Order: sequence, then C-alpha cells, then structure tokens
Amino acid sequence: MSECIKRQASLPLPEGREVYTNKVLAVVGELGLKCFVQTFGCQQNEADSERIAGMAVAMGYTLTAEPNEADLIVVNTCAVREHAEKKALSLIGQYKHCKSNKKELVIAVCGCMPSQQHRADEIKHKYPYVDFTFGTSDLYMFPELLYRRLSGAKRTFVIPEDKPPVVEDIPVVRESNYRAWVSIMYGCNNFCSYCIVPYVRGRERSRHPDAIEAEVRELIASGYKDITLLGQNVNSYGRGCDFDCDFADLLERLASIEGDYKLHFMTSHPKDATKKLVDVMARNDRIARQFHLPLQSGSNEVLDVMNRRYTAEKYLEILDYIKEKLPDVTLSTDIIVGFPGETEEDFQKTLDILSYVKYDMVFSFIYSPRSGTPAAKMENSITDEIKSDRMRRLLDLQTEIASELNAKCIDKTYRVICQGKSKNNEGMLEGRTEGNKIVLFASDTAREGDYVKVKVTKTQPYALFGEVVK
Ligand code: 5AD
Ligand code: SF4
Repeated sequence: MSECIKRQASLPLPEGREVYTNKVLAVVGELGLKCFVQTFGCQQNEADSERIAGMAVAMGYTLTAEPNEADLIVVNTCAVREHAEKKALSLIGQYKHCKSNKKELVIAVCGCMPSQQHRADEIKHKYPYVDFTFGTSDLYMFPELLYRRLSGAKRTFVIPEDKPPVVEDIPVVRESNYRAWVSIMYGCNNFCSYCIVPYVRGRERSRHPDAIEAEVRELIASGYKDITLLGQNVNSYGRGCDFDCDFADLLERLASIEGDYKLHFMTSHPKDATKKLVDVMARNDRIARQFHLPLQSGSNEVLDVMNRRYTAEKYLEILDYIKEKLPDVTLSTDIIVGFPGETEEDFQKTLDILSYVKYDMVFSFIYSPRSGTPAAKMENSITDEIKSDRMRRLLDLQTEIASELNAKCIDKTYRVICQGKSKNNEGMLEGRTEGNKIVLFASDTAREGDYVKVKVTKTQPYALFGEVVK
C-alpha cells in the first residue's frame, strides 16, 4: 500500500514540523534509537543532510556513521548525472538486508532522485522496503512523514511542487565546527537544456537577507571561519522578491560582520555575474579570492543549444574583469564534454579557453542524458569513445596548466585552514588556501580548524607542499 502526495499549501509549515517532531520524540525519545544519514551529490545536498540530521536529533535519535546499527536510514540522493543515480540505487539495494535483519528499521530516500516521478515510481515498485521519499524542498515534512509511517500509515512518495515555500528555522547538526554551508536561495529558473535541477528543485526562491545575516552572525559568533553561501545561481539572488537586495548587496552586508573569517559562494551563472559583484569582492577582504564560473563549453553554437544565454566572448569579458580586479584570485569552472552535436572544432574552442584562462581547477563531466530535459531528446549524440578521448585530452591539458600555476606558488606563504590528517600522505596535515587549493604540511600543534601559515616548498598539479612558518 502506498500513496503519492503533494504538499497542501494550507499546512502551517514550521509549526507543522514542530508538532510532528514532538510527536516522534514522544514515541522514540526514550528508546535510544539511531539515525544514519548518507549523502550523495553537491554542497547543497550536504547542507540539506545537515538539516535532516538536525531534525533527526530533535526527534530523539542519535546520529551514527554505521548503517547496520541504524533504526532510521536516510539516503539523500543526486540526479545530476546517471552515475550518481546508479550509485544511490545500488546502495539502497544493499539496505534490503538491513531491513531483513531489523524489521522495524525505517528507510527514507530524499533529494533530487525521488523528486522525479519515474524514480519515485521505480522506488515504489522495485524497492518495497523503502518507507517514504521526499524532495529537497520538502525537507520540513520529514518529521511528519516519519511520524505517519511509525504510526502504521501507508508508504508515501512526495513529489515536490513547482513553487515550494522557503522554510526557516529547520534545526541543523553541522558536520564541521569551522566550515559551514548557508543556503541563500533554492531552485533554479535557468533550464539549461542538459540539466535536471530545475525539474527537481523547483523555481528560484530566495531567503530573506535578515534571516541569512542572522544565521551568518551566529556562525561567526560560534567560531566558524569558512562560510559558503549556496545557491544554484547565486547571481540571481533576490530577483522578484519584495526586498531590495541583490547578491552583491548581500555579500557586502555579510562581509561587514566583524570577525576573522572568509565568505565563499557558489555557483555563479556567467550570464548574471556582474562587475558590481566583482567590485564588492575587491573591496572586502573577508570575501575569499576564489571564483567558480562554470563555462560548460567554449563554443557559441554549443552554448546556444545548451541554453546558457551567454557567448564565449561575454564570458571572457567578465572573467577578464575578475582577473583585473582580483589579481590573486583562484579560478575554477565546470565543463561538459560530449554534449550532443559537439564537433571536434567545438571541443577545440573549449580547450582554447582553458589555455587562455588557466583555471586552477576544472571540474569536467562527460555529458549524461537526463530524462525529461530537452537535450535528452537530441539525436546527434556523441559516441562513448569520442567522449572518453575528449575527456582524456581535457584532463591532460588541465594537468599541465595546474602544474604550471602551482609551480608559481613555490616560496609563497599562504594562510591555510587546517582540515586535519591527510588521507593520502601519511604523517601530514591537509589544509586549504582561501582559494581552496590543497596544502600539505607537517605540524605537531595545528588542530583542525586552525589557521596556519605555510610556505610552499614543493608542488604537484593538484597539491602544494610546505612548511609551517611563524
Ligand atoms: N551531464 C553532465 N554534466 C552535467 N552537469 C549538469 N548536468 C549534467 C549532465 N546532464 C554538470 C554541469 C554543472 C555541474 C554541477 O554538473 O557542468 O555545472
Ligand atoms: Fe542546472 Fe543551469 Fe540551473 Fe545550473 S543554472 S542548476 S546548470 S539549469
């Protein structure tokens, strides 16, 4: 037995959440139950998982990193590429045995994947041990869905609506005590032809600047040093809202809060990135010298079919302005390789821009058709062989560029934030510069979250090595 529901607009939202939180707490509060939250995908999903963990704790669960001992498993999924969906589905498949071992285990799946009707149907039919699903915009419904299920209600599959509300004050358990995510807006209106996000995260809606400022102030007061403002396109923050504050205004307002911290943000859409924003960055030291500006393709023909609404020339105009105003900026981008119809000439134009800009980091993805998007219906697809070959060439070029850029860091001193022990380099600590470059160093005294000054002595394409200086 199951049902598909849509949120009722009349529901008293935050109050409804609190009521159900208390109802679950009354049932499970004394039982010492454990909740395991697993996250796939982007920073937005990581931020959402911290809210899910926060609600679980408010309902009386303790958090565990071990699915086998959990009484409640929440899988927060990504749908941006097929690989991410396959990984999540395979994992959900593995949880079947957890349920066989523990009948009262509750399994919930949330995030982008089950927000698509075909995936919700698939989970309903092929994964009968999944108790309920909900989307990124329905997070606040988690206590209600859980309570209903614990009370013996049917399995529920919530398909998010197009214009969900912005819900404030959802409790949060943050993973880190020095690095924090702050969502400033939700959803996307851009409908890039390859992208599933607008279909699963709904239309753009911004949080009120007062609420964002209050959250950031609280984080800074509690010692957070690295704060990343999140949105699918932060540059359209505030658009269509009843307050007068665009993203540059918001950033400047936040950067005026007293304290020793850095503000980061992602992601910027090139069509909306303004000189005003760059000027705000240039005059505020608390905004990290880092800019992630997804290019996707260097060919105007491909950009047009991708519905990106900028040309390579326009893109480079804002990028050159960033370089001029922020000479020490760290640049990164996203590239899609093998978009339908991408010719060798188109691809070469992408490589040309990589060579011209010299990004510190390039996140490159092989095009993955997403059901329901316009690009998925395009017939001129590229063979897997050509896609892999282009990807390899792009990575080779980028490795060369990154080596060259990193080599210039020798003898320079950076203030890095220590992130604890390195996983790949035994005995070393790993830190990040404000531009997000990885720095490895040795220290007996530095602790996670400390700022440390490191002089670079050796470099690799994707890491700097150095010595701590006073
Ligand atoms: N295939 C491959 N990459 C994609 N991205 C988004 N959708 C797809 C897709 N269908 C990439 C874009 C985006 C990043 C987050 O993921 O480069 O900027
Ligand atoms: Fe997807 Fe484009 Fe929106 Fe980014 S801006 S989330 S790529 S539709």
